[in-house]
Amino acid sequence: MSKRVMIGSVSDVPVNGLKTFNAEGTTIVVARVRDGYCAVINKCPHLGLPIAGGKVEDGVITCPFHNSRFDMCTGRNLDWVQGVVGVKLPEWSRKIIALGKEPAPIQSFKVTEEDGKLFVEI
Ligand code: FES
Repeated sequence: MSKRVMIGSVSDVPVNGLKTFNAEGTTIVVARVRDGYCAVINKCPHLGLPIAGGKVEDGVITCPFHNSRFDMCTGRNLDWVQGVVGVKLPEWSRKIIALGKEPAPIQSFKVTEEDGKLFVEI
């Protein structure tokens, strides 16, 4: 069963960036999207590294380590291991860097706003 937790204010989240919050021991990364906010766990499903240092564009987060991309509202994997620290790699080498890990979604969380405060379902 999920629990609704207050994490901060809407003003904490930059317009075109990411903000990390601690939601009862779980580190989540929040971004503004067209019609609200979305959040994912700060743990890339590829190697479990923190994704908070990545970039976000239109609700899509790119992992800073190997450029996997995820929809922050659904967690859906859009690209899997595209390169290393921002440098695109040829297709054949991606399989090596994937280290046998198959494409996987990232855990996402529903975020709601109420009176300028943000709440996450965790
Ligand atoms: S750790 Fe995120 S893509 Fe490798």
